[in-house]
Amino acid sequence: MSLVGTPNGIGTRADPHAQAREARRQPLLLHSTGLFREVFEIVFAHREIRTVVEVGVESGQVSGLYAELGATAVHCVEPHPTEELRATLAEHDALHLVERPSPAALAELPAADLYVLDGDHNYATVRAELDWILAHAPEAVVVFHDLLWPWGRRDLYYQPSQLGEEDQLPSTEDGPTIWHDELTPTGFVGCGAFRCAETAGGEGNGVLTAVEDALADDDESWHLELVPAVFGLGVLVPRRGTAADGLVRALRPYSRSSLLAAMENNRLALYTQVLHLQYEAAAHADRLAGTVSTQQAEIAALRDKLDWVIAGHAEQVARLRETNRRLTEQLAEEQRVGQLLRALASTAAATVQRRFRS
Ligand SMILES: C[S@@+](CC[C@H](N)C(=O)[O-])C[C@H]1O[C@@H](n2cnc3c(N)ncnc32)[C@H](O)[C@@H]1O
Repeated sequence: MSLVGTPNGIGTRADPHAQAREARRQPLLLHSTGLFREVFEIVFAHREIRTVVEVGVESGQVSGLYAELGATAVHCVEPHPTEELRATLAEHDALHLVERPSPAALAELPAADLYVLDGDHNYATVRAELDWILAHAPEAVVVFHDLLWPWGRRDLYYQPSQLGEEDQLPSTEDGPTIWHDELTPTGFVGCGAFRCAETAGGEGNGVLTAVEDALADDDESWHLELVPAVFGLGVLVPRRGTAADGLVRALRPYSRSSLLAAMENNRLALYTQVLHLQYEAAAHADRLAGTVSTQQAEIAALRDKLDWVIAGHAEQVARLRETNRRLTEQLAEEQRVGQLLRALASTAAATVQRRFRS
């Protein structure tokens, strides 16, 4: 019997740790759109995709994937490129860095066959991006990341934000958690990289809400499949395009998978529990450090006191030694005088005896 079609990294009798090795090679929180390679393969298999606009590139690890699958030009829109990203993109002729924020950058690029939107995860940005694409590249397939929890119904704002105040909801450094509905410093926080809206839901809030609103006027022309894994990946397919039905059908095993949805919820529950425990551990370490430094200060104060007492005793001992030395000398002197007196007395007695005898 052979295990046909299993992913790489399965443990064998000879190498039972292969799967564990593969698991620990991954970051603790998987978040990249690169994990959806098989979904992109389906998109490329059903549509002729030559030009890609990738919004929100981060390390650039995914950009090469589009070229590998057949794209001849990939425009990588990233307003804050790292040196690592520049180096990665420089290795491929098909990859072009666009060092500008979206949505403004979209209008400066040729209309693309595929847009991958994974930049600033908030209503204003995603709504403006999608409005522009629907108006200027209506035949394109659009892939969205983060359509599910936590940013599907709650805005995230990268810092410093490119948005005007009118496009931002009141926001906070605290973050959401699976374990209750309030925001908390032990939740999904940006540590300075991003802030999130203080409230979830309602109008004008979140990535999925932006997509729904942008499509609301012309719902019949588009089909949205949502893969419920790794924060939720949406694939928007224009119905009138070639092979639209085939593409949607091929995506269904992913978008309709209750197994994927359950695993995603479980992953988020476990990860936010880890965040909570990390926070608690750090707070405990802080409390411990506080106790240690208080105790060190007390020990230092006791040492000073001890030194002072020892110094006081040393003076006393020196005085006593001096007194002892003087008394010893005095005693010796008195003993010497006593001996002299005894000697004188015996001499005198002898003299008196001699006188009386003579
Ligand atoms: C979640 S990361 C992208 C991850 C990447 N797509 C991947 O799957 O590996 C979001 C990126 O969007 C970038 N970003 C933030 N605001 C943006 C904007 N207005 N336009 C384009 N990119 C933006 C951030 O600098 C960050 O690198």
